[in-house]
Amino acid sequence: MRYLVTGGAGFIGSNFIRFLFNKYGSDASVVNLDKLTYAGIRENLAEYEEKPNYRFLQGDIAKPEDVAEAYKGIDGGGIDVVVNFAAETHVDRSLMEAGSFIETDVHGVLVLLEEAKKHAPELKRFIQISTDEVYGSIAEGSFTESDPLNPRNPYSASKAGGDRMAYAYAQTYGMPVIITRASNNYGPFQYPEKLIPLFVTNAIDDQPLPLYGDGGNIRDWLFVEDHCAAVDFLIEHGTNSETYNIGGGNERENREITHRILQLLGKPESLIKRVADRVGHDRRYSVDTTKLERLGFKMTTDFDAALERTVQWYTAHEPWWRAIKERSAEFKAYYEKQYAGR
Ligand code: NAD
Ligand code: DAU
Repeated sequence: MRYLVTGGAGFIGSNFIRFLFNKYGSDASVVNLDKLTYAGIRENLAEYEEKPNYRFLQGDIAKPEDVAEAYKGIDGGGIDVVVNFAAETHVDRSLMEAGSFIETDVHGVLVLLEEAKKHAPELKRFIQISTDEVYGSIAEGSFTESDPLNPRNPYSASKAGGDRMAYAYAQTYGMPVIITRASNNYGPFQYPEKLIPLFVTNAIDDQPLPLYGDGGNIRDWLFVEDHCAAVDFLIEHGTNSETYNIGGGNERENREITHRILQLLGKPESLIKRVADRVGHDRRYSVDTTKLERLGFKMTTDFDAALERTVQWYTAHEPWWRAIKERSAEFKAYYEKQYAGR
């Protein structure tokens, strides 16, 4: 299978490419199209750079010429499957500046779909990686795929735009689109601006853990390798034009996650610093995953064990995250703007 993976230098995309090579070896070829924004780290996949079945292409999904080049595949061989992970992904950043979110998460998806349309006869699948945030917050119960969308922040509104654009191309042009809406991922290679890697790395350095509001917001945690396995499963077993929720089945309050991280690292609770809440902070996300399970997919990972593995990964890979937290001027400026005096 010849894959075009976008955003493959980011957290989930790099895990997905590694998953493909581990599972399919040389039967998979991958073009990784990534703009290398602040969140893109090409070295995440350094071990594949010399392989003949891997091609890294620095480019923007919102630029038709970059996308056309990516669809050529490796040595002009073409593409069978597109998996679009490329996005601006951080809610807090979307509250500071939303224009780049519209450009990549909406317009970029349109550009990718337009080029896909030209390759429609040979293209087998186009997977649009959406998010459970497009449904908005839910006090009780869980959202199913047919529930209305109610995105409540600029990031999730942009993702809803991309999600519906992909659906429109499936309906209008009969393109082989599948949309996935996953819950909060955690695991190796997550950029240390998100809750778990930020809190783990701050705790290692005895720095405060800035917990928003009362810490009672709930997220459903999905181990990144389970997410990758679910996307791979849907490429094979999903139905075109359909949307699938992907959840971890691990709903936890943020304060519970925070306590667990401190426990695992043997650090004191006094590191927790309650800070002003995120504006418009969605209280709880929850998705019903019956549709995916009925197809035969099962989550295999135990949350406590995978969180411990994740903490161990950050402990063992200090140079990876210190390069970001200590040497990236962009990260330092963001951190200062986001947390100073909060
Ligand atoms: P990330 O921020 O770690 O990585 C995003 C990657 O996309 C980076 O490598 C970046 O350079 C690249 N990128 C950004 N704009 C681009 C553009 N215009 N053209 C090409 N590349 C571009 O993100 P992530 O957490 O790995 O998320 C990947 C996808 O999964 C996103 O679509 C996100 O919305 C979705 N998602 C994430 C989660 C989660 O918990 N992290 C949950 C559900 C869905
Ligand atoms: O639900 C899926 C979404 O999960 C993805 O679509 C997004 O790309 C991804 O970033 C994530 O969004 P969240 O906003 O839920 O993730 P984040 O890690 O930023 O925050 C998780 C929770 O932790 C949220 O309730 C806010 C809280 N939080 C976060 C940070 C960064 C804090 O309390 N303090 C913090 O410093």
